[in-house]
Amino acid sequence: MNRRNVLIGAGMAATGGAALWALSPGPDYDGLAASIRESLTPADDLQTLAGYATLAANSHNTQPWLFAQDGSAISIAPDFTRETPVVDANHHHVFASLGCAAENLALAAGAAGKPAAVAYSDRNEGGVMIDLGSSRTVRDPLFDAITKRQCTRSLYDGRAVETDDLASIEKAAALSGARVLIVTDPKKIEEVLEMVVAANTAQVEDPAFRAELKQWLRFSPRRAVEARDGLYSACSGNPTLPDWLGRLLFDFVFTAKGENDRYAAWIRSSAGLAIVVSDANDKPHWVEAGMACQRFALAATALGIRHAFINQPLEVPEKRLEFGRWLGDDSLSPDMILRFGHAEPMPWSLRRPVDEVIA
Ligand SMILES: Cc1cc2nc3c(=O)[nH]c(=O)nc-3n(C[C@H](O)[C@H](O)[C@H](O)COP(=O)(O)O)c2cc1C
Repeated sequence: MNRRNVLIGAGMAATGGAALWALSPGPDYDGLAASIRESLTPADDLQTLAGYATLAANSHNTQPWLFAQDGSAISIAPDFTRETPVVDANHHHVFASLGCAAENLALAAGAAGKPAAVAYSDRNEGGVMIDLGSSRTVRDPLFDAITKRQCTRSLYDGRAVETDDLASIEKAAALSGARVLIVTDPKKIEEVLEMVVAANTAQVEDPAFRAELKQWLRFSPRRAVEARDGLYSACSGNPTLPDWLGRLLFDFVFTAKGENDRYAAWIRSSAGLAIVVSDANDKPHWVEAGMACQRFALAATALGIRHAFINQPLEVPEKRLEFGRWLGDDSLSPDMILRFGHAEPMPWSLRRPVDEVIA
């Protein structure tokens, strides 16, 4: 058999395999995603509080956290076995993810009659300490958004968000050391888009970035349900495929141009951008930025407004400097960039069983 016949044969086998795969009943991805959220009702035990906490946004859905309880104190420690050293060399995203989880946990504790005080802890390699008090139940409207929040990576409908809604979201996300800046000026949005495209190009063309990302991609519902972490294709609007085929095709279809075109359309369809900033570039502020970010996401969700991250300019060191200059205020450290607007929901992401994240 010559090389051409081998390739045709392999192509036919792949097509046949994919067709058979499409016909076979897969695992119930959507049922699992729904049950992870629907099984939760407010209670003050660690299992329940960690269940709400893990629904937080977290980088690459690595779920880099470990929860423990000692009396009325709950700690959230980083799980560095789940680090992503290429995209997050200094662990900024790990600590921001802990902040997102801490915010959910505090809201869930409040809803169960245990108002919580969150603080950065420098024990070991750093983490979060949450002290549970007791009072009457405080059910913050942000709490009800925890199970409804998702990153919606799709084309939005271009509609603006009401000024009053923007003001209330901004207020909800304002903490003492971190907050969000809302950008709705189309000229400024185009300037950020330019930086997203430049940084995205650098990332997509970096073999180490591609390899790390690929490790966290879940192309099939079967693989997604097995792992219950990482980035499932359907959540980003990509077709689902047998895992082996997805891994094979990724090397050919994941191109800078393809991704940049998609991001340009996504950003231009959004109502605006939210830039999470904090007062210093250190672990305590990364955690606080995560809390502000999660509060932004929950406040937006509560108003029916969707969001997705477009963090690329902050993940490439030279671009981060450029973004800082664009921000024009040396006293602010940029932590996360998101877009927001109106869109239909996308499939929900999964989480590992809570038992696996309780130390
Ligand atoms: C610090 C941080 C950085 C993130 N960066 C990106 C990003 O650059 N691009 C993206 O699409 N999502 C990003 N995300 C979102 C996560 O991928 C998302 O939260 C995770 O996959 C879980 O999905 P969910 O938020 O829909 O539950 C980031 C989240 C955090 C907390």
